[in-house]
Amino acid sequence: MSEGAAKKEERHKFQAIRGTRDLLPPETALWNHVEQTANEVFATFGFGAIRVPIFEPTELFARSIGLDTDVVSKEMYTFEDYEATELVELRTAAVTNVASLATGEALRDFLDRVGNFILAAEKAFEAGGIPKTPENERTLQMARELIADLQTFRYQGEREILPRVAELKDAVRQVRFGDVISLRPEATASVCRAYIEHGMRQLPQPVKLYYIGPMFRRERPQKGRYRQFYQIGAEVLGGSDAPAIDAEVIEMVMTFFDRLELHGVQLDINSIGCRECRPKYVELLRAELLKVKDKLGPDSQRRIRTNPLRVLDSKLESEQGTIATLPRITDHLCEACATHYSAVKRQLEMRGVFFRENWRLVRGLDYYMRTTFEITAQGLGSQNAVCGGGRYDGLVELLGGPPTKGIGFAIGEDRLVLSLQESGKAPAQPGRDVYIAWMGERAHATAIRAAKDLRKAGFSVELPPVEQKFGKALGQADKLGAKHALILGDNEVSEGLWTLKTLADGAQLKLPEPALIEHLRKSKAVSS
Ligand code: HAM
Repeated sequence: MSEGAAKKEERHKFQAIRGTRDLLPPETALWNHVEQTANEVFATFGFGAIRVPIFEPTELFARSIGLDTDVVSKEMYTFEDYEATELVELRTAAVTNVASLATGEALRDFLDRVGNFILAAEKAFEAGGIPKTPENERTLQMARELIADLQTFRYQGEREILPRVAELKDAVRQVRFGDVISLRPEATASVCRAYIEHGMRQLPQPVKLYYIGPMFRRERPQKGRYRQFYQIGAEVLGGSDAPAIDAEVIEMVMTFFDRLELHGVQLDINSIGCRECRPKYVELLRAELLKVKDKLGPDSQRRIRTNPLRVLDSKLESEQGTIATLPRITDHLCEACATHYSAVKRQLEMRGVFFRENWRLVRGLDYYMRTTFEITAQGLGSQNAVCGGGRYDGLVELLGGPPTKGIGFAIGEDRLVLSLQESGKAPAQPGRDVYIAWMGERAHATAIRAAKDLRKAGFSVELPPVEQKFGKALGQADKLGAKHALILGDNEVSEGLWTLKTLADGAQLKLPEPALIEHLRKSKAVSS
């Protein structure tokens, strides 16, 4: 590679990681507008903001979202959180560079190194320096036994000992030095954890919380699908499971979308039953699916066994006819769930919220029961779900809290912004109200004071850091989309009369400072 090419490559080395992106002005103005609107609308429904950590124990997500879901089984960013201690070095020394165990001496040497590591790990385990989990206890014991076994083994050559050595190396690698944690793929689990941790059941119920922030899922990136994406979510925890709560939560999202003038909004709702009726329906569905198995593709065939409800999610054209003939959960709800579902629909009608019933809406996370809903919007292609949510009574209890009702939703903010952009919503141009064109030392001092006063009065001001010729300054003001140029030279400063030029029509005024601010205030009020 030539030196030039190498330099060029060097320059291009750092790029945002696949599936992540930078959000830049002016687009970020639209993001701010969306978030500001969420703050305002959610406050009118009595929701308070919560901020939860970006990472939590993996176990929290595994237990809530479910081990068999795509999110937990394939998409989480998970790592072990520990400090680099002597243990790390001992482990590295034990299991790396085991090139050959061709002699009894090499084996003894290997066992010595592993033995040192296990001894140190056992001590750390006792002292609480590494997690005192049953898994760690078992792994350490297994390693001990394998070492003892190999020590008494009469060396006969690599073939006999290698399988046991491999087992021992595995055990050594499996010792956990720290907690296993994950970047949050969603925030419902964290909000439930926080509800329990802070004893929020002592507060007036239900507790209404909302959050805005990044989530992480290792999905295949495409339009509207990222590995770091943003959600605006809300959760209602505690109190009753009155259908009016479900309806009000949905009404809140729809009000929010309405305020943003989001186009082509379609709300789908469903009820997926409860612990009583859903398992019976799932069995019925499985039996029916087995009858039509041959008409389904390999993914759906596999799901008949693992999670038959997910077959209903299939977008495969060839399967649609078959799926249409399957039994529908809404015909198999228990009486309590059926009553709840009818009441939710009635409550939505009372609120003037239009919806479509979609019996195939099952959602991909395990914690849901009864009401589920999804909202799609225009201009998003295949990733058109802009919001998903549902009821999750029992999740707080599953995480070690008291029996608690819960319902919520999360909006994909990236998709929301994308849809707004596609329908022509441009962010307000971040132009300046005033560009201060100054020349000379005395004028600089006045310009600094003028900038301070104008900013205090709420104007956006560009104050060039170095002196420019007036012609260049006006060109710069034009490029930045400034509405006015405030011209400050020696004359202006000594006369106490400042020149204000309106860039759109070139009109020029000479005014004393207070009158000038008043004039700007009036012209801003007219233009906004
Ligand atoms: P979810 O359906 O997994 O639900 O995600 C909600 C929304 O987040 C989706 O409808 C979509 O707009 C957006 N989203 C999900 N993954 C991505 C991605 N990779 N890139 C861009 N946007 C994405 C939940 O997360 C639940 N916690 C919602 C909830 C709250 N249910 C009850 N309370």
